[in-house]
Amino acid sequence: MAVAHAIIYILLTSLAAAAASSKSTFGCYESIISFGDSMADTGNLLRLGSANNLPDSGNPPYGRTFFHHPTGRYSDGRLIVDFIAESLGLPMVQPYIGGADAAVNGRSFDKGVNLAVAGATALDVSFFEERGIKNTCTNVSLGTQMYWFKQFLATVPEGRKFLQRSLVLMGEIGGNDYNYPLMQGIISPRVIQSFGPTIVADIGSTIQELIELGAETILVPGNFPIGCIPYYLTQFKKSSTKKDYNSTTGCLNWLNNLSIYYNELLQKELTRIQKLHPHVHIIYADYYNVMMRFYLSPTQFGFTEDILRACCGGGGPYNYNDLVKCGKPGASCCNDPSIFTNWDGLHYTEAAYRLIAQDLLRGHYTIPPFNDICPSIATSSPSAQIYKY
Ligand SMILES: *[C@@H]1O[C@H](CO)[C@@H](O)[C@H](O)[C@H]1NC(C)=O
Ligand SMILES: *[C@@H]1O[C@H](CO)[C@@H](O)[C@H](O)[C@H]1NC(C)=O
Ligand SMILES: *[C@@H]1O[C@H](CO)[C@@H](O)[C@H](O)[C@H]1NC(C)=O
Repeated sequence: MAVAHAIIYILLTSLAAAAASSKSTFGCYESIISFGDSMADTGNLLRLGSANNLPDSGNPPYGRTFFHHPTGRYSDGRLIVDFIAESLGLPMVQPYIGGADAAVNGRSFDKGVNLAVAGATALDVSFFEERGIKNTCTNVSLGTQMYWFKQFLATVPEGRKFLQRSLVLMGEIGGNDYNYPLMQGIISPRVIQSFGPTIVADIGSTIQELIELGAETILVPGNFPIGCIPYYLTQFKKSSTKKDYNSTTGCLNWLNNLSIYYNELLQKELTRIQKLHPHVHIIYADYYNVMMRFYLSPTQFGFTEDILRACCGGGGPYNYNDLVKCGKPGASCCNDPSIFTNWDGLHYTEAAYRLIAQDLLRGHYTIPPFNDICPSIATSSPSAQIYKY
């Protein structure tokens, strides 16, 4: 009798376990909703463009390491969002533009949707136009992405439940709100810095709207140390003197300070929203410090090439040339992107994105630690399965 009970008990518990695990492979999320810019775009900008006006990410050598062809990702391979999906046992998150129709294009949004568009700002284009700043890449803002998302969600049966069971990746977004004005040079850095509260309020209100729609877990990355990227190091080389550079890293201190300032504002806003919605998990992802480690001790992470140089570009001290960008005729590409952090002057290599994603998922550089919210992630090794793109 006791044995029979034990067997029934084991049967019941394993059935319960099976039921729980069918929720998602590792029991945390059934899908991923991704907003952002080129750091997260898995093909939207490419699909928004016309055939005779492809973005650089539609040309080789973009995609060469992993996909072996350009996918619209601004890297040689996978992005952070791809590695997060893989570690959660989910397929790569499909770009929203072009739609999903399993019968027609073999794509599905059942496991998530990616609304991120390269070049997107958090604030609407009008904010920049009013100040004489152009978005040379796209007119898509976070507001546009949210509009698309609501249209999408309305088509999902039990949309609220779908969103509740999703991991929402809110960014990185906001970096371009600084990039366009900094590069166009018609507004002083001090005034550009003062955009911070407006950018952060915009991201904050989008997060609150998602919470009202049912979102329960939202990961919000801050900005990268932009003073370390070849794009800015090249742009500001002429106007900089020795004292402008960090003596340890060679990065531009004032630009990194801008990221630090912005990230502090963002974290304050997240803390404020968290207090209003105690049942929701709002997780800050510290992209600044996760990346800064590479600049402080590059070889420890396998980045044996000059850490401030881009792998793919048109030459110069940082291998970045605005006139000969990666993906354009005349640009050259390094042999081994895995020993570089920087891919094309602005974006990072798959090797860097992989390390960042691993650290975030293990709970380092996330506040609160991601593995407190999804403990099974820490024990599950990322699946080696490669999903059809
Ligand atoms: C963006 O540009 C496209 C194409 O020119 C246009 O159809 C669309 O209405 C614009 N969207 C916004 C938000 O301005
Ligand atoms: C130089 O960079 C290091 C590492 O990020 C930082 O701790 C330090 O404050 C920087 N120095 C200045 C003057 O900003
Ligand atoms: C950047 O911040 C550091 C640390 O707060 C400070 O020492 C340094 O003066 C700042 N540098 C610039 C150029 O703003």
